Amino acid sequence: MQEKEIVQLIDAQPERHSLAREFYTDPDIYERDIERIYLRAWLYAGHESEIPEPGNWFLFELAGESVIVARGLDGEIRAMLNVCRHRGSRICLERSGCAKRLICRYHGWTYDLEGNLVGASRMNPDFDKSAVRLGRVHVESLDGLIFVNLADQPADFGAVREGLADCLRPYGLAGAKVAHRQTYPIAANWKLAVENYSECYHCAPAHPEYSRGHSLAHHGQRSGKLLDAVMARAEACGLSDRTVTRMFLKAPGFGADFGYERYPLIRQHLTGSDDGRPVAPLLGSIRDYDGGATDLQVGPVTFGLMYCDHVVLYRFTPVTIDQSECDITWLVRGDAVEGQDYDRDRLTWLWDVTTHADKRIIEHNQQGVNSRYYEPGPLSAMENFAWSFLSWYLRLMQADSKKDTAREES
Ligand code: FES
Ligand code: FE
Repeated sequence: MQEKEIVQLIDAQPERHSLAREFYTDPDIYERDIERIYLRAWLYAGHESEIPEPGNWFLFELAGESVIVARGLDGEIRAMLNVCRHRGSRICLERSGCAKRLICRYHGWTYDLEGNLVGASRMNPDFDKSAVRLGRVHVESLDGLIFVNLADQPADFGAVREGLADCLRPYGLAGAKVAHRQTYPIAANWKLAVENYSECYHCAPAHPEYSRGHSLAHHGQRSGKLLDAVMARAEACGLSDRTVTRMFLKAPGFGADFGYERYPLIRQHLTGSDDGRPVAPLLGSIRDYDGGATDLQVGPVTFGLMYCDHVVLYRFTPVTIDQSECDITWLVRGDAVEGQDYDRDRLTWLWDVTTHADKRIIEHNQQGVNSRYYEPGPLSAMENFAWSFLSWYLRLMQADSKKDTAREES
């Protein structure tokens, strides 16, 4: 599909409707999605506790790209492309590991944990190893959460750090640990997965387990008296007005959007669990349950749900045009002991059952959108946030497509 046709498609897009079929099925649009969003945005890669020792590394993969996130011998976290500078082989083949050196198994080129080539046997005498290093990927740590960015010049992460500091502080996430991490494959275009995450219109019909305890599933219950009660308890619980702001913030700079908002849990739920009772020790400096949970967003495709005793992080990445992944991380206090302070099955139950249901409805959505008879449909008030995502996406595609069309015509 030509740029011109994409511009026409965007111009024809009705307000507050789902997108035209091509946005979910056209390979050229998918390529543009990757280039314009995923290769430019800040993306959650993992938590520092997953690479606690020098030499620990793990891979972050999306849309055919592979990034090595490693803790160097100096303790610093760095990210680099998993593409050998000899003839391009993948270097690290497992999902994670520990090594002082990264060795490409094809011809044995060896890199240090900063990505410098330190060994390449039997190359010509004039070959200068010191000029060769793995492609560098920008990396930032936000209270222990590692974000990477594949752009040459990414948007400044400083605004995100500053804007989220108050919200994150009570949770002490730098001292938290990963209790469980799981990747859910979804046979659908990545936008359908993000749209679905961004609205709770589907929660009542699709998620009875979640709807039992979360006001978001019930139109009109997220604000008003219930929220006032949560806010009134904030201070005593070690949270504060500043940490439970009702505002949703947006930072300037592409791919560095962020925001957070606290909302009430319902029916005496203290946290997100099968019966609403705690599933882990209170996090960070939080002293008690205020009856609320905070929705978090960092960058365009990383979301979080912060309860007083655990945090759940969700990241959506494309694998191909109609395959994506939802990666979920459950964080608990760093000193919590499995089997003693928390039970992994109880901790993960709610979002595991909910994500399996989401996977099913998103895949059915893709199957319907593939139909020649599909037409964009109107969104409800409970899908406002999904429309924020879609209109952000359309504005972005429009701005870049118009630029490209002008270039094509000049
Ligand atoms: Fe890595 Fe040859 S491709 S050493
Ligand atoms: Fe859902």
